[in-house]
Amino acid sequence: KKIIFSGIQPTGVMTLGNYLGAVKNWVALQEEYHCCYSIVNLHAITIRQDAKALRENTLAAYALLLACGIDPEKSIAFIQSHVQAHAELSWVLSCYTQFGELSRMTQFKDKSARHADNVNAGLFTYPVLMAADILLYQADLVPVGIDQKQHLELARDIAQRFNGLYGNVFTLPDGYIPKLAAKVMSLQDPTKKMSKSDDNPKAFVAILDKPETIIKKFKSAVTDSETQVAYREGKDGINNLMSIYSAVTGKTFQVIEDEFAGKGYGEFKLAVGEAVAETLRPVRERFDAYMKEKAYLEDCYRKGAEKAQALSQRTLDKVYKKVGFLAK
Ligand code: TYM
Repeated sequence: KKIIFSGIQPTGVMTLGNYLGAVKNWVALQEEYHCCYSIVNLHAITIRQDAKALRENTLAAYALLLACGIDPEKSIAFIQSHVQAHAELSWVLSCYTQFGELSRMTQFKDKSARHADNVNAGLFTYPVLMAADILLYQADLVPVGIDQKQHLELARDIAQRFNGLYGNVFTLPDGYIPKLAAKVMSLQDPTKKMSKSDDNPKAFVAILDKPETIIKKFKSAVTDSETQVAYREGKDGINNLMSIYSAVTGKTFQVIEDEFAGKGYGEFKLAVGEAVAETLRPVRERFDAYMKEKAYLEDCYRKGAEKAQALSQRTLDKVYKKVGFLAK
């Protein structure tokens, strides 16, 4: 059976982009594969966080994963800082990663420009930690949105380099990027990725937004000055809405074009808003229920960490031996 690994940062709210680009696929994959999913709080501190808020957001993110349908009996769902091997392997791999390679990461360039007052070393070596996450579990597939593709390729390069030196230590991971909604765009500027850190809250849909709020955000989505609902070059706003609608309803673009032929954008935007609101309604309800069950959540993430600990330690032991660390 194939092994799947993926992670999500517990910073702020989870968006429709995170859901359609990644988490929805995590849920589907757990039926068939061995899956490990992590709330990556070590990654989160590359940007300054308030300690109390990070703690709360970490628990909420965990509850939200379960609410989205991650089943802690089927998948290993854990919090990254609970499993020491992540930081440990990250150090080793950082010694097998070149400064030049990390300098080419577009996310580092973006983030260091946006947080110019805190361009810390962790922000720079972030992709090495991500490689450690993936390689520790010998993952075959990594379900992510398209924005993580470059990091994933680096993880593969690092693995290949390490294997070249020491034999077959790591499985080479492949990305698992959805055909649809691999990059959900901002509702206010459809040439930009939908991001929770957008200053304008109308630009993104949070998984936990109320149905009315979701519908309102879609109603005010920026489109174009034409009238035809059609997937075409240059119609970024409509293309984005069609992708979202297709991802949540399963309808093809052709079916959508036929459904809205001769109808205005207003009607289409309302339909997309309603479909998304209906998809997310049960997630929000389950989230509220899980957040009242703190003891259950603790039990789940502790068990998850135990399983992750056992798996990751095997890889770490192998690596320590290969690089020449004297056994304890
Ligand atoms: P993060 O927390 O930024 O995002 C989590 C997942 O959501 C996807 N995503 C999107 N997909 C489509 N459209 C969007 N607008 C959109 N925004 C976000 C991301 O591609 C991602 O899959 N570095 C990672 C977390 C990480 C990780 C890992 C992932 C750490 N270690 C190991 C995979 C494997 C990140 O910051 O994701």
